[in-house]
Amino acid sequence: MMKCITCGEQYGLDEIIYTCIKCGSTLEVVCRPDVSKDIFNCRKSTMWKYKEFMPVDESKIVSLEEGGTPFCKCQNLGDKLGIKLYVKVEGSNPTGSFKDRGMSVGITKAVELGVNTVGCASTGNTSASLAAYAARAGKRCIVLLPSGKVALGKLAQAMFHGAEVLSVNGNFDEALETITALALEGQLYLLNSVNPFRLEGQKSIGFEVVDDLGWKSPDRIILPVGNAGNISAIWKGVKEFHEAGFIEDLPMMTGIQAVGAAPIANAVRNGKNSIEIVTNPETIATAIRIGAPVSAQKALRAIYESNGTAETVTDDEILDAQKLLARTEGIGVEPASAASIAGLIKLVENEEVDKGEQVVCIVTGHLLKDPNTAINACVEPVEIEASVEALSKIINPR
Ligand code: F0G
Repeated sequence: MMKCITCGEQYGLDEIIYTCIKCGSTLEVVCRPDVSKDIFNCRKSTMWKYKEFMPVDESKIVSLEEGGTPFCKCQNLGDKLGIKLYVKVEGSNPTGSFKDRGMSVGITKAVELGVNTVGCASTGNTSASLAAYAARAGKRCIVLLPSGKVALGKLAQAMFHGAEVLSVNGNFDEALETITALALEGQLYLLNSVNPFRLEGQKSIGFEVVDDLGWKSPDRIILPVGNAGNISAIWKGVKEFHEAGFIEDLPMMTGIQAVGAAPIANAVRNGKNSIEIVTNPETIATAIRIGAPVSAQKALRAIYESNGTAETVTDDEILDAQKLLARTEGIGVEPASAASIAGLIKLVENEEVDKGEQVVCIVTGHLLKDPNTAINACVEPVEIEASVEALSKIINPR
């Protein structure tokens, strides 16, 4: 069943519904399979390894083998910061971001429901992912993007996979409002993270982190927050494994936002249980350029319940962290993803993260999603003659 997170009203899993009819709050799927973790042994390393925890019909699964992403120990950066650091590399998913986990479940649900048209508003990655999974399932796909504010790689993906891409004169929040209204008229099945089935896929990040650590929770999970679905999903995942008795402890959920788009971090700073909408969100990390996150309530609950926190970072801090991760660990991520590393650095400096803490940073999207930002941060290659002499002069100047 689905349940309202505020008033507890219950709905069937086959109802096409995005928010509570009674009180307007967000919904979540209730999922409590009675299984032993031994059943996961010897299964292929994709997020469907945990299929008993996914509330869809197994015979209808639409998958590109998402999940099972690298869990890299970062000794260089960890030593520098005085912590034990792991990075979960979500850019290694089929379309290059964590959204694929949510879309695999979301599109499977669309197949179950028998809908023909799916849609989303997006800062880019959601649309790239939806376009690919919709293509695989043979569904018509409509995506609304904020005009001029979507990184090139993501735009190329959405178009190349055959989505009908519309550029909206407005920001992400306005695009989402528009497409939600269309979905409520029944014109398409909405696959933004307000759809609780999206979060069911994304909770597998939490499953994998504790599985990767040998059925132990890290002290802390740090991730960028935009529309606030992912932090809510990961918290749901680790809590489900905790309730199932697979792990003993829970991580402190720590959300990072850009200074110019920080409704959640502002609320946490002031100890509030609700957000104030940011009307003109701005950041170079276009993926998280969001002022009215739909899962704000779930995210705040995750942060407070887990004794976690939230922090803001500037665009310069984001770009510095992006380069640092690329050059000390070889991990290339897009700006929004680097916010988690920038936030970690700040929290270590402020002594909010303790020395020796075991921290997992979720890096959410691949470097090449935003090629322009990457190229702009570098100097142009030196041009030389195609001769050994010219080359040795450059690499070994005397
Ligand atoms: N990192 C990346 C790379 C993202 O694309 C997003 C969200 C986030 C972090 C934030 O996750 O919204 O669950 O808090 N991108 C959405 C999109 C909004 O349309 O692709 P969140």
